[in-house]
Amino acid sequence: MAVTVVVGSQWGDEGKGKIVDLLATQFNVVARYQGGANAGHTIKWGDKTQVLHLLPSGVFSPGVDCVIGNGVVIDPRALVSEIREVQSLGYELAGRLWVSGNAHCILPYHKALEEIHSSEKIGTTKRGIGPAYTDKVARSGIRIMELVSPDLFSKRIKEELERANAILRAYHRQTLNPEDIISEYSDYGRVLTKYVADTADFLHDAIDSGKQILAEGAQGCLLDIDFGTYPYVTSSSPTAGGACTGLGVPPTSINRVIGITKAYCTRVGHGPFPTELNDGTGAHLRKIGGEFGATTGRPRRCGWLDLMALRYSCRLNGFTELTVTKLDVLSGLDTIKVCTQYEHNGETVPRFINDALSLSKVIPRYEVLQGWKENILGCTDVNELPSAAKNLIDHIQVHTGVPVKIISTGPKRSQTIQLGS
Ligand code: GDP
Ligand code: IMO
Ligand code: MG
Repeated sequence: MAVTVVVGSQWGDEGKGKIVDLLATQFNVVARYQGGANAGHTIKWGDKTQVLHLLPSGVFSPGVDCVIGNGVVIDPRALVSEIREVQSLGYELAGRLWVSGNAHCILPYHKALEEIHSSEKIGTTKRGIGPAYTDKVARSGIRIMELVSPDLFSKRIKEELERANAILRAYHRQTLNPEDIISEYSDYGRVLTKYVADTADFLHDAIDSGKQILAEGAQGCLLDIDFGTYPYVTSSSPTAGGACTGLGVPPTSINRVIGITKAYCTRVGHGPFPTELNDGTGAHLRKIGGEFGATTGRPRRCGWLDLMALRYSCRLNGFTELTVTKLDVLSGLDTIKVCTQYEHNGETVPRFINDALSLSKVIPRYEVLQGWKENILGCTDVNELPSAAKNLIDHIQVHTGVPVKIISTGPKRSQTIQLGS
């Protein structure tokens, strides 16, 4: 048994980057399995802060191999820039970063097409994610293996751009010049070629030789293309099953699935959010929690923890354990609410509803818990937590039936409580 999967259990930004970075040294390989540069995974150590968009959050653990799997959509410009940034911090990636040749590229026309189709309605990150996955499924995508093969790349760009430009023209948008793209992106291809590998094969060899793999999800369960609040979702499968299709690891190799949950909820972009707080408490959580998008800088919508949603996420992903992050942010509140039921059309609904229209109409019903005054930022020992904070953790465990094994009390690696094995 070799694979542990880390999944965001809410609408993203749960603190996956911090936790993957923290756990990375216990693994031989850290592998991203879906999403693209829409992700923003923040890692803090010492006095340094780095936001990763495409590179796995194991890059700051020398000796750990990092994989970008076939399920990721890669913006070559963003990846090359991120590789340079991380290398400039002193972390060598040659010989330890492996990029799937089967992963699809995000190219300038994907971003241009996104402007036409979905960006405003959904509130996307405008990183070309939807159009790139659309091309993948339509079997017209350009893969990394083509990007690094100059003749093939130039032929494919000309074919695909003809189609994309026709759409852009029809919508009275600026068309794109194939030669500009070929020239700029061939350079990226030359930089990336040494990292390209058959990553599924690499991971199979790792499994066969008894190595431990940490599969890092981006986004979160409630943004899943199938199980999220469609159409207010991303275009990939952040749920645990996405690790199998996005990396090529078999389901039987997975023995641990860690659900990362904030002690409250946030959402960026549009879509239903039953426990959203459009009041002073929401503004307080945003301020204390620093809830501004790591990729787009947009203010995140904030609200109480939704245990209906978390239980749904536990069932979909089969979490074997939970990590609760940002517990420190709740310090100082007189009371803390957790949503334990929805009311819909005058009836009590004891479960999450993933139909966006219905979910937008539910009334959340809360249990009110005692808050605590003590500042717990950086706390590393569960016995030092106020009893009200421990009570919130117990509540989460009882309602989900899943044990909480890690509690995060601050953004840094050291600001963590680990609860046994
Ligand atoms: P990700 O996308 O799931 O990796 O999460 P983001 O990096 O987008 O957002 C999480 C934010 O919370 C980042 O700024 C982290 O540095 C920060 N963070 C993570 N864990 C904690 C925590 O336990 N307490 C506090 N106060 N901040 C945290
Ligand atoms: P991490 O990995 C939070 C949201 C966008 C939008 C919707 C679709 O940092 O948790 P997309 O650009 O993917 O087509 O946008 O999904 N979204 C995220 N929200 N965290 C993320 O990633 C997100 N990636 C996409 O705001 O609502
Ligand atoms: Mg994020």
